[in-house]
Amino acid sequence: MATTLITGGTVVSATGRGAADVLVDGERIVALLEPGSTVLGANLAETVDTVIDASGKYVIPGGIDAHTHMSMPFGGTTAADDFETGTRAAAWGGTTMIIDFAVQKFGERVPESLQTWHDMAAGQCAVDYSFHQIIGEVNKESLAELRRLPDEGITSYKLFMAYPGVFYSDDAQILRAMQTGADTGLLTMMHAENGPAIDVLVEQLLAQGKTDPYYHGVARAWQLEEEATHRAIMLADLTGAPLYVVHVSAKQAVAQLAAARDRGRNVFGETCPQYLYLSLEDNLGAPGFEGAKWVCSTPLRSREEEHQNQVWQALRTNDLQMVSTDHCPFCMKGQKDMGIGDFSKIPNGIGSVEHRMDLMYQGVVDGRITLERWVEITSTTPARMFGLYGRKGVLAPGADADIVVYDPNGHTSIGLGKTHHMNMDHSAWEGYEIDGHVDVVLSRGKVVVADGEYRGRKGDGKFVRRDQCQYLI
Ligand code: URP
Ligand code: ZN
Ligand code: ZN
Repeated sequence: MATTLITGGTVVSATGRGAADVLVDGERIVALLEPGSTVLGANLAETVDTVIDASGKYVIPGGIDAHTHMSMPFGGTTAADDFETGTRAAAWGGTTMIIDFAVQKFGERVPESLQTWHDMAAGQCAVDYSFHQIIGEVNKESLAELRRLPDEGITSYKLFMAYPGVFYSDDAQILRAMQTGADTGLLTMMHAENGPAIDVLVEQLLAQGKTDPYYHGVARAWQLEEEATHRAIMLADLTGAPLYVVHVSAKQAVAQLAAARDRGRNVFGETCPQYLYLSLEDNLGAPGFEGAKWVCSTPLRSREEEHQNQVWQALRTNDLQMVSTDHCPFCMKGQKDMGIGDFSKIPNGIGSVEHRMDLMYQGVVDGRITLERWVEITSTTPARMFGLYGRKGVLAPGADADIVVYDPNGHTSIGLGKTHHMNMDHSAWEGYEIDGHVDVVLSRGKVVVADGEYRGRKGDGKFVRRDQCQYLI
């Protein structure tokens, strides 16, 4: 087994930071040591196969992006990144594990849909991966199949209160699924937007000739996110189902989550970089059809209404617990452009899997979150939330050697061409300048990114079985 010593860096965890060397044997971390440690009189650095100099840099657990959609069929097309391109881009950006969504479409069986996702991912991934299960049709069969997910190493499933006729579940279906989820120890993930009400607004806006991407944000009003979030919380309350609300963007939805948590409920919330940096006015409202780049759901919110600042604050105060990307990229040409003249036909999704660690590090630079909180919301909490902690999300003996050496004095320019590796013809983050840089990435002990080169291979990443959410008592 190859041994590696990462030396001279500052190891940062969710709870603190300090100078330490990290010793890796094969795929695992075996020790965190005093800098410059000796073993039986010998300098450790002289005994290992590889030494990585992390002087002046941070050494952190690899990022875990718990919300991605590689190759997802959606809006009449398929997400542009597959498991190969998407996980390679993740590795470039310091994310060493993704949790993607297996999609049970209407009329399909759950085990078959899960198998389809296994088939798409196996042998293709650059980093480790797991799945949540989307239940697109709640019925007797799928409820029975839900009960068998833990045997497959899958401990979370997702429902949609949005997208009628596609993934939508009504309240009766949600109630039944939550009862089953609670009974089975599954975490219920929820896309919380009132889909039927959104559809009425979409129809009315289009009838008024309001067809530009901007109106995607108008139709998906914050009231409809707040209402659905509240409803999901109440149904979870009734059934005892632990609830995780995905891609929270409206400050009013945050307030609903905070209130439920204050009542002691097992309610959690995720946000995404786009809701922290981008806005209805600046992005969805860009001239012409440009705003289509930023069409995603929930939508970007109004900067004037201060949603972004409130979401940052919620991350700091733990009213929101973590940051995923909801990576679901579509190209402008041939995909987003299906919605020219009708915003409702623009496939929903933004690609960010490569940039999450950098974009969130900018929050440290800007004084919005601490260094430790950065590690917590991008790695440690995702690991605990989705039953991976101990193996992932921490640098400790016995943990997988998923490690990032991050240079706070480095710089990352985000834009098109060589500056990103996602399979997209544009970047939603074009022009963003980050005061930091992902220098070296190890995935289960193997250096996959170093010296500005990708050194991994497809198939390096393996499926990881997950335990139950580790926040539940
Ligand atoms: O716009 C989005 N979020 N696309 C992906 C599907 C979803 O709702 O998560
Ligand atoms: Zn969603
Ligand atoms: Zn999503």
